[in-house]
Amino acid sequence: MPSSSALSFHPAADAIDSTAVPSRVLYTGAQIPAIGLGTFGSDHVSAEAVAEAVHGAACAGYRHFDCAAVYQNEAEIGNVFEALFGSGLEREQVWITSKLWNDKHGEADVIPACRQSLADLRCKYLDLYLVHWPFPNYHPPGCSVESRSPNAKPYIHENFMRTWRQMERLVELGLVKHIGTSNMTVPKLRLLLRDAHVKPAVNEMELHPHFQQPELFEFVRANGIQPVAYSPLGSPHRPERDRTPEDTSPLQDPVIRGIGERRKLHPAAVCLKWAVQRGHIPIPFSTKRANYMANLQAVAGDPLSEDDMHAIAGIDKNCRLIKGQVFLWKTGQSWEDLWDVNGEVTPP
Ligand SMILES: NC(=O)c1ccc[n+]([C@@H]2O[C@H](COP(=O)([O-])OP(=O)(O)OC[C@H]3O[C@@H](n4cnc5c(N)ncnc54)[C@H](OP(=O)(O)O)[C@@H]3O)[C@@H](O)[C@H]2O)c1
Repeated sequence: MPSSSALSFHPAADAIDSTAVPSRVLYTGAQIPAIGLGTFGSDHVSAEAVAEAVHGAACAGYRHFDCAAVYQNEAEIGNVFEALFGSGLEREQVWITSKLWNDKHGEADVIPACRQSLADLRCKYLDLYLVHWPFPNYHPPGCSVESRSPNAKPYIHENFMRTWRQMERLVELGLVKHIGTSNMTVPKLRLLLRDAHVKPAVNEMELHPHFQQPELFEFVRANGIQPVAYSPLGSPHRPERDRTPEDTSPLQDPVIRGIGERRKLHPAAVCLKWAVQRGHIPIPFSTKRANYMANLQAVAGDPLSEDDMHAIAGIDKNCRLIKGQVFLWKTGQSWEDLWDVNGEVTPP
């Protein structure tokens, strides 16, 4: 790990002025930058390389970072935050998200898990803490899609609410400013909205031009919940285990490429402009400076036309890439069972 002086805050000569980057207002009135840097190295990028990218991205103008305990790099990223916040970047200028992993849903586990992320990230508070998945099923990082926990459980709303009450306690304790969900469905969110004292500020979900999730997207927005888009480029370097022959790639789509050619934009820039204009917050991952700079530039630059937006709306393929097979809780199920495709929570 480089010395803390190498990690101090040096705005780059070509940094994007963070005031040129759009932001969204949450139901609490808080502002969140409309693009963040993802930090999941998909098992092939080291914690040090991701931390270095966080440093480079902060110096380039990023003010939003999507972290998680399960990415196994919060301590390395925390080193960077400590150096940045001690050398000119204000903690209040940066939006930091972390997530509760699936083996920490127990009532006694939520607050210690959050405190561990705070300690690793060297923060007194998080801007946002998400329940990473609605299933309390542990599986080791990097395991195969065939892997199943012997204790695997379905979604049981009463149990989820016990976890959520502890998430609400985190807000009361001042450890987190907002709480939210990830990988939820409309039926699960309906139950949560009915029973929550503190409603989720954000739902993090897979969203890209080939997986637009119109129903869930409209539902969360209608309920004052901000959608955050993971895998906004279609996760082109996701592990083999997360690929199936039916998967398609938004970066290869002829409509996206056509818009890119006409506007002299990389297909990634087209996907990110579309995301921000549609109203969700993309969190693209990259450790390559040219790429994370280009991604920030894309959302700070000129918007797409209405015709472009309309054309991209027409290429949805309902193609879910992150299917979550490891969360299945009994034999004979298909991954669709995790996503409540029949409009109700899949029965146990
Ligand atoms: N809540 C959840 O359950 C969940 C699930 C999945 C992901 N996430 C979050 O979402 C983030 C993003 O998702 P993701 O990493 O799956 O997918 P993604 O952001 O769609 O794709 C990332 C890949 O795209 C490449 N890339 C980035 N910018 C590019 C550009 N301008 N031109 C060409 N290639 C580019 C990167 O490679 P290079 O490094 O080579 O640039 C990287 O491997 C994660 O890092 C994580 O923070 C959350």
